[in-house]
Amino acid sequence: MAGKRAVVIGARGGIGAACLLAFTALGWKATGADIVAEGDLHALDVTDAAAVESFAADLGPVDAMVYAAGIVATMPIRETDFTTWRRIMAVNLDGAAHAASAFAKTMNPEGGAMVFVSSAAGLRGESNASAYSASKAGLIGMVESIAAELVSANIRVNAVAPGNVDTPMLRAVARGIAEAEGRDAAEVWEGFATTGAANRILSPEEVAQVCVALCTGAFSGVTGATIPVDAGYLLG
Ligand SMILES: NC(=O)c1ccc[n+]([C@@H]2O[C@H](COP(=O)([O-])OP(=O)(O)OC[C@H]3O[C@@H](n4cnc5c(N)ncnc54)[C@H](O)[C@@H]3O)[C@@H](O)[C@H]2O)c1
Repeated sequence: MAGKRAVVIGARGGIGAACLLAFTALGWKATGADIVAEGDLHALDVTDAAAVESFAADLGPVDAMVYAAGIVATMPIRETDFTTWRRIMAVNLDGAAHAASAFAKTMNPEGGAMVFVSSAAGLRGESNASAYSASKAGLIGMVESIAAELVSANIRVNAVAPGNVDTPMLRAVARGIAEAEGRDAAEVWEGFATTGAANRILSPEEVAQVCVALCTGAFSGVTGATIPVDAGYLLG
């Protein structure tokens, strides 16, 4: 796979950073972008459509794009703060559409692959997560539509639906629940390990391996799919 180029959006995050490393381990040249730019990462706010468009144009042709940017908030529906609701949609869904639109124009003319990190919460609703679940379910619909549209350009478009993954995001969610419910954060964390039929929390690398494999020839026949990477979460 030498000579291939990938871009990872949300590359400072747990899953995004693992994707960058996994592409590099395969010998690809991988570029990362995030709203918090550290080290070699490019500064990019995915909610800014024009910024995403010019980032893609400046980067030039790529063979793969992984969209791993995302935010979450725990919010009972009766207490919905619609500013937060809109922000979740803006990052998780609008940002993904900005990236799809921009990179569909700049992908290698011979073809390529896009992978969007959805969530098990996009396949099955969870309490107090209406905005997050809606954004992640919307992402799956978007992926199927774009996959159909880009078949003719030989661009495959897929989603992964992770269960609970040990990243800064999930650690923050555990702290938030513990604080709101007056519980011990370690106990909340243990509860995440046994959601549904899962018996453990996944590592970011386990999700990244699937994202990156979906961009390789090993998955040349797969497009429009949503692959759970959930250690059994959705089976319970
Ligand atoms: N951790 C989990 O259990 C879990 C489960 C299912 C799905 N996911 C999804 O996986 C993806 C990666 O999450 P993670 O767990 O690695 O979390 P994370 O918080 O470590 O990473 C998310 C990254 O997105 C970046 N980001 C946020 N807003 C942005 C913006 N406007 N522009 C550009 N970048 C922005 C953040 O700076 C961060 O680096 C997210 O979409 C998340 O919803 C995570």
